[in-house]
Amino acid sequence: MKQNLWSSAYYKQNHFVFKLGISILLVGFGFRLLFSQSSDAIPNVTDDNIIDISTPVLENDVKPIPLDFVESPKELNQFQPKDDESEKCDIYDGEWIPNSGSPAYTNNTCRWIESHQNCMGNGRPDTGYVYWKWSPKACELPRFDARKFLEMMRDKSWAFVGDSITRNHLQSFLCLLSQVEDAVELFHDKDYKNRKWHFPSYNLTVSVMWSPFLAKADIFEDINGVSSSEIQLHLDVLDKTWTEQFDTWDYILFSSGKWFIKTAIYYENNSILGCHGCEGKNYTDLGFNFAYQKILKNLFEFIMNSNPKSMIIYRTSTPDHFENGTWSTGGSCDRMVPAKEGEFELADVNRILREIELPEISKAEERASEKGMKLKLLDVTSLSLLRPDGHPGPYRHFYPFAEDKNAKVQYDCLHWCLPGPIDSWNDLLMDLVVNG
Ligand SMILES: *[C@@H]1O[C@H](CO)[C@@H](O)[C@H](O)[C@H]1NC(C)=O
Ligand SMILES: *[C@@H]1O[C@H](CO)[C@@H](O)[C@H](O)[C@H]1NC(C)=O
Ligand SMILES: *[C@@H]1O[C@H](CO)[C@@H](O)[C@H](O)[C@H]1NC(C)=O
Ligand SMILES: *[C@@H]1O[C@H](CO)[C@@H](O)[C@H](O)[C@H]1NC(C)=O
Ligand SMILES: *[C@@H]1O[C@H](CO)[C@@H](O)[C@H](O)[C@H]1NC(C)=O
Ligand SMILES: *[C@@H]1O[C@H](CO)[C@@H](O)[C@H](O)[C@H]1NC(C)=O
Repeated sequence: MKQNLWSSAYYKQNHFVFKLGISILLVGFGFRLLFSQSSDAIPNVTDDNIIDISTPVLENDVKPIPLDFVESPKELNQFQPKDDESEKCDIYDGEWIPNSGSPAYTNNTCRWIESHQNCMGNGRPDTGYVYWKWSPKACELPRFDARKFLEMMRDKSWAFVGDSITRNHLQSFLCLLSQVEDAVELFHDKDYKNRKWHFPSYNLTVSVMWSPFLAKADIFEDINGVSSSEIQLHLDVLDKTWTEQFDTWDYILFSSGKWFIKTAIYYENNSILGCHGCEGKNYTDLGFNFAYQKILKNLFEFIMNSNPKSMIIYRTSTPDHFENGTWSTGGSCDRMVPAKEGEFELADVNRILREIELPEISKAEERASEKGMKLKLLDVTSLSLLRPDGHPGPYRHFYPFAEDKNAKVQYDCLHWCLPGPIDSWNDLLMDLVVNG
């Protein structure tokens, strides 16, 4: 079983290492284009290059779109009272249902939306994608209640630790909360990758920490995401960006995944152990699943040994929805409604990440509960897979077609529009915090 999993992962990997090489070459080019036209952003954060790695694999993973597909209309907002057992309900087993209620915030009422994800502000013409709600089969999932949440979080501190999707999620969280009281920014580093806010009336502090591998990594990329050398990833050393502050937080949400697909040299004990995707070098290709697993084991070991009073949440890795290509080969995402169950399959890369993270999180959950610690899974993978309509696509740029209706623009089918489907990640988060 274990053997199968690993060897199949290995097989698939060899299969796409070649394509990965090509896409790495392309991405440098892609990014020069991309940044030469970058314009209006408030925080000019630059790690969007994580995007390319998302789909070096199998284009045919994505099923063709049935042209006649329209979601059958359902009763809006009619919640049958379901079994009153939200603790036992699997909140991840559900469906997207139409929801006529307006989104909790817009580009006009939240100032924390990064320009690349500000789909409304960038002129995305369709708005249907904000009128859906995640609805578990066995229970009702209340929408994120910012006022109640803030009340619960008096004098508390939160941290979101991970990559640019983590930051995307954090911005949704800030936007939801800022409808009750706007946040005051306390700190940002020069790249706006590590930031901290405060909600004065509630004395709630929220931080975002940039740590795409969660472990120590030397990344040699210039501001345009062009890499001058392989990433050096220390599998046995967690990133002190967050470990140094770990004890100061009451709620910590970790997530990672996508960056592991990049070419990297793996270190242990400061010596080279192997690599991933490093063709032409005499190192053993260990596969990114090896590195992800090792780091997750270290992460959870660290957490167990520090025996925190804080609540730890691990969010699973997320799928992208590039169709007819990838980030660097002109892939796009033009859908306007959620997909049907089974319409999109999880790409191999995501499946491999998931095969690592699910068992590691579940082992950690078990150990944590034995020790009386709170450690929870936030599994957004399946529900996100159903939302090909939720990405900025061409609207990562300000009015991309203003001058030329047929302009060739870079699509982003990996990050998520705000407001958009990932606001529901916070409905789930609230459920975890309230119920357990
Ligand atoms: C928000 O988006 C709308 C278009 O949907 C635009 O008219 C408006 O100016 C935007 N607001 C801000 C503050 O950018
Ligand atoms: C605000 O919360 C922090 C803990 O996050 C606490 O140390 C501090 O005393 C609180 N401040 C006030 C004014 O209550
Ligand atoms: C962000 O962009 C502004 C203007 O384009 C520039 O002055 C500033 O140095 C940039 N900041 C970073 C972190 O790149
Ligand atoms: C790491 O290196 C030190 C000394 O170089 C050695 O004592 C130790 O056993 C090594 N640990 C591992 C896990 O290889
Ligand atoms: C690659 O490494 C192995 C063992 O580390 C060594 O025996 C072999 O000669 C090396 N090959 C090349 C081409 O450097
Ligand atoms: C992808 O390509 C197929 C066949 O070439 C085409 O029918 C479809 O419209 C394309 N989809 C997108 C999103 O461009």
